[in-house]
Amino acid sequence: MTIRIEDQNLLFHLQTDHTSYIFRVMENGELGQLYYGKRVHAKPAYDNLATKTWHNVAALWRQEQHDLHPQLLKQEYASLGKGDFRDPAYQVTQENGSRITEFKYQEYQLVDGKKHLKGQLSTFDDNGDDAQTLTIVLKDQLLGLVMNLKYTIFPHQDVIIRSTSFQNQGTEKLTVNSAASAQLDLPDADYDFIQFSGAWARERHLIRTHLRSGIQSVGSLRGTSSHQQNPFVMLARPTASDATGSVYGFNLVYSGNFRDQVQVDQYDASRILVGINPQEFAWNLKPGETFQTPEAVLSYTDAGMNQLSQQMGAFYQEHLVNQRFAHEQRPTLINNWEATFMDFDEAKLLDFAKTAKKLGLEMFVLDDGWFGHRNNDDSSLGDWFVNEPKFPNGFGNFANQIHDLGLKFGLWFEPEMISIDSELYKQHPDWLINAPGRHASPERQQFVLDMTRPEVVDYLFSAMSKIIDMTKLDYIKWDMNRNITETSSGQLSSDDQLEMPHRYILGVYQLYDRLVKTYPDVLFESCSSGGGRFDLGMMYYAPQAWTSDDTDAVERMMIQFGTSYGYPQMMMGAHVSAVPNDQVGRITSLETRSNVAYFGDFGYELDITKMSAEEQQQVKEQTAFYKAHRQLFQFGKFYRIDNPFENGGNVMSWEVVSADKQHAIAGRYQLLNRPNIGYIRFKVVGLDPDTKYIVNGSTEEFYGDELMNAGLVLDDILKATHGTDRSADFSSKLLVIDAIK
Ligand code: DGJ
Repeated sequence: MTIRIEDQNLLFHLQTDHTSYIFRVMENGELGQLYYGKRVHAKPAYDNLATKTWHNVAALWRQEQHDLHPQLLKQEYASLGKGDFRDPAYQVTQENGSRITEFKYQEYQLVDGKKHLKGQLSTFDDNGDDAQTLTIVLKDQLLGLVMNLKYTIFPHQDVIIRSTSFQNQGTEKLTVNSAASAQLDLPDADYDFIQFSGAWARERHLIRTHLRSGIQSVGSLRGTSSHQQNPFVMLARPTASDATGSVYGFNLVYSGNFRDQVQVDQYDASRILVGINPQEFAWNLKPGETFQTPEAVLSYTDAGMNQLSQQMGAFYQEHLVNQRFAHEQRPTLINNWEATFMDFDEAKLLDFAKTAKKLGLEMFVLDDGWFGHRNNDDSSLGDWFVNEPKFPNGFGNFANQIHDLGLKFGLWFEPEMISIDSELYKQHPDWLINAPGRHASPERQQFVLDMTRPEVVDYLFSAMSKIIDMTKLDYIKWDMNRNITETSSGQLSSDDQLEMPHRYILGVYQLYDRLVKTYPDVLFESCSSGGGRFDLGMMYYAPQAWTSDDTDAVERMMIQFGTSYGYPQMMMGAHVSAVPNDQVGRITSLETRSNVAYFGDFGYELDITKMSAEEQQQVKEQTAFYKAHRQLFQFGKFYRIDNPFENGGNVMSWEVVSADKQHAIAGRYQLLNRPNIGYIRFKVVGLDPDTKYIVNGSTEEFYGDELMNAGLVLDDILKATHGTDRSADFSSKLLVIDAIK
């Protein structure tokens, strides 16, 4: 048993392989949090951990319980207005306007395994990995409202999944104004809050700040999880690093508006709330109805952030990602976007595809501009039929030619969008999201479809299906290039308008669900102007995501490094593009560009037909190299070594290691070169100390402990450029490390 229940004391101890999560039913019938951290022994009670001291100026639960002050308690799912005064986990408004609730413990249910949540995407334990699920049932008798707090432990990845549902068994209409997926009250505030923030083309840069009194939060009101903030956050002890120390990770299985918040109170306790953003949200619960929150992912380790990323990443691979692709090597690809934008015809594309095949690439992805009459971004979104002038011989015929070359065929869609200049808008102007009496704000000359409407989901499914069938498609890049404004739905009543943002995302998931089930062999890559929807909700359907529109090698180092904290590298689409780079104008070598892109789902996004014979040869060799090491690059254990967000950021390094520690590849990258520097000793990690290795085919042999502790002297970084016209800036070096048999 990994979930231990002390029935007498109503104490719940969730034990994973290395962590313990303990809570109990308190004297007032609510749940009190006792401990979350490194695994401790199971005991019948932990009286010492239950904070109970009488305070003069603090509301009491009841006069006779003179030591039960809500504001001093560590709670599991705090209510509003009963003397806690920190932000609550939920708020429910009643017909009489009251927001006061009193939930009391009723019972628990404990089952082996993990069921999929009804009507929502969720984590799972379909392959039997010892998951256990505990549901704590609480009830507000006055309202007849039942609250189910769900906990699933995945012991081997040290992950706990939490979610909450509200079930209206009463007779009045209630409104859920907020409902966190998880709350965690920690007893002190000596933590750094680590967030992943940015903007379009510079997503997920690491920001680390020490907690202070008051609220620190990240969130989104854009209708997407966003480029600006990511739902993955960490709380780490100030001394914690990638290699060592205590750290908690939190994420949300959701793609819409979210909020992750930490509140430090007057006693220096920290309350973490993770869930749908309460702003722009309310859910009406009629008698008989249930509201289910998305799931939150919690994980802890005392062994540093690399360990945290690895255990959470392993968890996603086994229990979240579409299992059809979770372990399957992803194809190398050529994408035409940065090469042609929308200026292409059939002949040009075929030339492209033939060259790609010759150079060893495996999939041709046709990006934006193949449909309607789209030749720039002012038209045709929603018209998912082929742009005939560009494909005069038919689209099916074009796809056949790609397949006949021995390549897979992938296609770009932006399903959630509509252009004013489109057939779809002529037929269904009311499908465009807008508020009554207002003008709709354009972004990139496009507007958003009302995904809350079942008829919109039906239309998109049928239009996309026709293309998938006609082209025997292997891959879809599902883009989403703007945020949602004037959030409102013509098909919802005025009372239900605050349900719109959440219903929108549920509509997106429904479309994904139907497509994934109907076309199980189609690989999806999610995208939102690059990495604007890089989250676990998308990951459930789309095993990979376009990490950023910024393909510059230097910018990508930081973006991929930052992203790797919360997401495994098999999720990161990473392409080599042309120089000067389209986004920053920087010139880096083809070698450095590929050395960065290798650590993800590799491809090219430049005009390979215009490359010199020498460059094409390089592309051929790079592709062959990647394919030879693809398993390691995509699925190896990922370690961050030198952090570009620290120490001036001139050096970055990372490494992938095979599960059996027989193979590893480390990449070291340097931005600006320096004159007259000392020797660099590069220490790799994750090897077996007692195994002998060679590096890049060397004759010298090294024990793992030597490479990890003494390091390898890199003295050729400067020398490599002498006598050439290559810049020594933006240099990079790969170490291919192989155990000697
Ligand atoms: C934004 C994506 O991130 C790009 O890769 C490309 O697909 C364009 N949209 C196409 O409009």
